[in-house]
Amino acid sequence: MPSKTLRTDTETTPLANGSLGDMSPSEFRKHAAEFTEWIIRYLEHPERYKVLADVAPGDIKAKLPGSAPEQPESMESIFSDLDSIIAPALTHWNHPGFMAYFSNTASKPGILGEFVSAAINPNAMLWRTGPAVVELEEVVLDWLRQLLGLSADFYGLIHEGASLASLVALAAARESLNLRIREEGMIGRTDLPKLRVYASEHSHSSIDKAAIILGVGQSGITKIESDAEFRMIPDALERKIEIDLKQGVKPMAVVATVGTTSSTAVDPVKEIAAICRRYNIWLHIDAAYAGSAAVLSEKRWIFEGSETADSIVVNPHKWLFVPVDCSVLYCRKPDILRRAFSLIPEYLKTNEEVRNPMDYGVTLGRRFRALKLWFVIRTFGAEGIRERLRYHIQIAQDFKSWIEESPDFELIAPAPFSVVCFRYNPSGKKLHPAEIDKLNETLMERVNSTGEVFLSHTKLRNCFVLRIAIGNLGTTERHVKRAWELLQEHSGTPRSA
Ligand SMILES: Cc1ncc(COP(=O)(O)O)c(C=O)c1O
Repeated sequence: MPSKTLRTDTETTPLANGSLGDMSPSEFRKHAAEFTEWIIRYLEHPERYKVLADVAPGDIKAKLPGSAPEQPESMESIFSDLDSIIAPALTHWNHPGFMAYFSNTASKPGILGEFVSAAINPNAMLWRTGPAVVELEEVVLDWLRQLLGLSADFYGLIHEGASLASLVALAAARESLNLRIREEGMIGRTDLPKLRVYASEHSHSSIDKAAIILGVGQSGITKIESDAEFRMIPDALERKIEIDLKQGVKPMAVVATVGTTSSTAVDPVKEIAAICRRYNIWLHIDAAYAGSAAVLSEKRWIFEGSETADSIVVNPHKWLFVPVDCSVLYCRKPDILRRAFSLIPEYLKTNEEVRNPMDYGVTLGRRFRALKLWFVIRTFGAEGIRERLRYHIQIAQDFKSWIEESPDFELIAPAPFSVVCFRYNPSGKKLHPAEIDKLNETLMERVNSTGEVFLSHTKLRNCFVLRIAIGNLGTTERHVKRAWELLQEHSGTPRSA
């Protein structure tokens, strides 16, 4: 059989059949320059797009062919579709008016990290398949650990998101109970006690999902009441544990949230940690959003008591300017993680005395995510990161003060970070709670339809509440002021501030 001529790196080499191999270096150089320019323009003028696109479900699909092209298409035509079909139909997370959910930033150093990582394309399941990937991750996560003031015995590993990181942590918690679940499973076993996970009523849904996946089930999750500031009540936690123990239910883990999704409340970690020590229960801290704030000396308190926690998740892809995805799970008991997850088939056996990432989590293959975190931390420096976070907190606090001063708006929760929960409640009108909810829902829709800002909502004490979340590096005082103007304009209240 004649062998095919493989393309070499000399771009002019003709191919035996004219189309095998990759794009030539000269073509790549040309298109890379064009796309780089596109990215630069996109980032320079994010406000030329509406933050929320004017599209209806199905609009995009209707513009795209239903099957793959049989013949090669030019990069020019792909580029043109990107510009005309895709970009205008995006929700622009890197828009400075994006203030919904937890806003984030694909910072430029982070984007450069993604660039390089895509080109290197390592799959660091083992140290051997990416020595620099594994070691840089260990180094940069240790830097981050120090910046957050976490104790030195926490071992970090990057995951795709906090949902996966919490699942991994809770799997380790289950393994720590020595119930031979790894070996024998759970189905059909009469020797297993009912397992329990405790979390605040404001904990993230990813904790429920993890409990479902791990066989604890929704009935195995006990939601603990919170206080007037939406923080878990430690006494209530202890009472629930006592009741369970009396009934033969086995506590598997307690999840404390540092920065709840709705209101960014911080559960009292120190008191919760003391309870976990007393009853010997795994403590997992979900600090996906607010954990980053611990780089600030004035916010260090959020992790007080964390030294005896078993695992902590912090998402640099939320509020540390690293592009999605980058979530860090710190665990003080890597040996238990290993017990839960290590499974080494013959073809992956190696002799090196190293930590192979595949032994500490669900996925085998892993991307080079540490690179973008490394680029961000080095480019901004710890001090630069602190200044940026302080600025976000400051502009969010300005917004909070406007709400507090307005007779027609009210603050619904304390705002310890860069998220403010509030609602419109016009003074002098005695409205039914359902009417206030409706007013706020309509107000949010009107403000969002301007395309200048994007706000989201939650429910607190069963009331519809608006949220403004500052977290994008492009967001300045001007954007927050504009959000406030739009809220006043669209609610029909006279402007202030
Ligand atoms: C407190 C908290 N935990 C976990 C998550 C899930 O994060 P991810 O999207 O990285 O899975 C979120 C998402 O907003 C969150 O707010």
